[in-house]
Amino acid sequence: MNDTIAIFASARRNGNTGKFIDRISEILEIDVIDLADKNISPFDYEHKNIDDDVIPIMDQILDHEKLIFASPVYWYAMSAQMKIFVDRISDFLAVDELKDKGRKLRGKIGYVVCTSICQEADDSFVNSFKDTFEYLDIKYGGHIHANCKDGYVESQYTDDVTDFVNSVRNAEFCPRIKMRST
Ligand SMILES: Cc1cc2nc3c(=O)[nH]c(=O)nc-3n(C[C@H](O)[C@H](O)[C@H](O)COP(=O)(O)O)c2cc1C
Repeated sequence: MNDTIAIFASARRNGNTGKFIDRISEILEIDVIDLADKNISPFDYEHKNIDDDVIPIMDQILDHEKLIFASPVYWYAMSAQMKIFVDRISDFLAVDELKDKGRKLRGKIGYVVCTSICQEADDSFVNSFKDTFEYLDIKYGGHIHANCKDGYVESQYTDDVTDFVNSVRNAEFCPRIKMRST
């Protein structure tokens, strides 16, 4: 099975970010989870929404070692659909029965694929992923950005995509081994 999966969330499936992640996933031959297609409700302190799609999605994600988060930059931040999902990761830190799953995120490698209408992705956008990864003990593997001021033009990103795909393929996953204290 492929060790990489993409988690994608945009306000439109076949927009700039959708085309960008489709190109990358085609080369890497990986699955793309479209969060907008799923039933994921916003974070609830009482976890009354725990039976929505968030646990099956997490189970699918946890079967992989390299996680690619794909989102457009909307107002210097990740898309709303992505933010709802990231908020819901909190369930896996807070609900006793889910904590074992949450711990399995540790040591995985996280990447970011993004589009905007600027030359570079905003630091605030990239840092929100980097900081979240750090908190969850996910190693940051890097990001790739496409300036879609004139739409997504695949030919402009051939070299960047090749570099990104190679860095994902070549990344060494180091599983966290629990050391028994003597
Ligand atoms: C609600 C909204 C907010 C946006 N905010 C930003 C922004 O803060 N910075 C930026 O460079 N582009 C911004 N854009 C432009 C998008 O990032 C850009 O068009 C992106 O490629 C859209 O990807 P999509 O087709 O997957 O939605 C925004 C677009 C929308 C719809």
